[in-house]
Amino acid sequence: MPLGFSLGTIERTLPPLRVTAINIGCAACHAGPAYTPDGTPNPAAAVLGRPNTALDLEAFSQGVYRALKTGSADEMRLLEAVARLFPDMTLRERLSLKWIVVPQTRAKLAALSSGVDKPLPFANGAPGLTNGVGSLKARLGVTPAGRYDASAGFVSIPDLADRSFRSAFLADGAYAPSGAVRFRTIGRAEAEARDTKPIAAIASFFMVPSMGLARQRTEAAIPDLTLVLDYLSASRPPRFPGAIDRTAAAAGRDVYARACKSCHGVYDANLTEPRLLSFPNWAGDVGTDPSRQRVFDANLKSAIDKTGHGRRIIDAAVTGKMAAPLLSGLWSSAPYLTNGSIPTLRHLLTPQSRPKRFMSGGHRLSVSDVGIDGVMRDGVWAFPPDYQPYAQPVEIDTGKTGFANRGHEREVYGISEREREALIAYLKLL
Ligand code: HEC
Ligand code: HEC
Repeated sequence: MPLGFSLGTIERTLPPLRVTAINIGCAACHAGPAYTPDGTPNPAAAVLGRPNTALDLEAFSQGVYRALKTGSADEMRLLEAVARLFPDMTLRERLSLKWIVVPQTRAKLAALSSGVDKPLPFANGAPGLTNGVGSLKARLGVTPAGRYDASAGFVSIPDLADRSFRSAFLADGAYAPSGAVRFRTIGRAEAEARDTKPIAAIASFFMVPSMGLARQRTEAAIPDLTLVLDYLSASRPPRFPGAIDRTAAAAGRDVYARACKSCHGVYDANLTEPRLLSFPNWAGDVGTDPSRQRVFDANLKSAIDKTGHGRRIIDAAVTGKMAAPLLSGLWSSAPYLTNGSIPTLRHLLTPQSRPKRFMSGGHRLSVSDVGIDGVMRDGVWAFPPDYQPYAQPVEIDTGKTGFANRGHEREVYGISEREREALIAYLKLL
């Protein structure tokens, strides 16, 4: 299987059933490509903990839906094709397919076609962009059966460095460990000594919306997830692949200390691999798209409170705020902002230049602008003409609900052009 897929067998004695099944796992979203010094991606060398900026779950689920519809329309042809493609299938597997899987798939497809006519009752995102809250609401029955939830609380997959510095989790800080203070400063000594098990216990609940697992089964994964988080805490994001102007970066460090650290944390003075020293876990309103923060509402909170996770592990809250993200590993996680609405750091720091539309999915890394390499063409920040993306890109329209590219403007106001260059050089180091 490609990285990020897990493979298993579903077996039952009565009726006799045997099916090989696949699901996505953590690395489907949390492994990204390596890059060469000029920013060319090498998707054959995946780096764990970095975001998969190309994974398009909306295109994936629509593709599977169309294929299942086409395939099950002519059952004879389907079974013949399966026999040809998978000659090693046992008799039991073939019978399971014919008598259990195909009829159940047809029934499910018939129900979906006559209802919302979509594979899922929520919008499933765009490249590197997921709708975990929409998925969780569907899984917990907050979205009524047969209804389509059009709300667009999309979240861009983050880099997973330095997570032990967070006192609250998710883009709005909706999840805190039970009994803990939601937003407070965490320093390096505490982060290093911190028991990762309560974080792993929260992360186990992510398996419900992101992987479709039954909640009851996710708690068994907590010991493994503790190991995953220990591994991530001990590793540092890989260094920026391109060249960095050290003199500019030194000047950028001062700009960061003046304008950014109060919300994004204090790093040590090192100019090769700065390490986070303390993180304030600041949350508030910086004028960015409110879609994500709004979809986590009181109905969802009370549904979570009724689960075992809500009772014992997670203190869920409707915060009405956005949490300032960790900037460690920032260079690999374009497009920027929680809703992935800004293609490069340069655009983020120059609000009037933010493009209304841009290409996303399988990009080359811009080593000068930091983010999606592109050129303006017909009003779109498009991939350079000589570049062949490794995935099927999508044009993001920031005029659409959930994709607004405004906000975080006062935070970067008053920075001169020179200071901006310096700040970009410095941010490459994080
Ligand atoms: C479908 C894609 C997807 C899958 C699969 C997935 N994640 Fe995530 N993960 C995300 C997104 C998106 C976020 C950011 C959520 C937010 O900030 O609201 C995230 C956030 C996280 C965070 C940071 C939480 C925080 O707020 O700081 C951790 C830790 C994490 N995931 C671990 C895991 C683990 C472990 C697995 C496998 C069990 C996993 N994820 C599976 C997409 C995914
Ligand atoms: C008042 C607090 C505050 C200040 C000051 C601030 N930011 Fe932010 N920043 C935020 C918040 C909140 C977000 C998340 C907003 C969202 O996604 O809706 C954010 C998001 C970002 C992101 C996007 C990260 C990602 O992973 O997509 C970057 C980059 C960033 N800030 C850089 C900076 C820089 C550089 C400065 C200093 C010039 C700065 N910020 C100053 C609060 C702040």
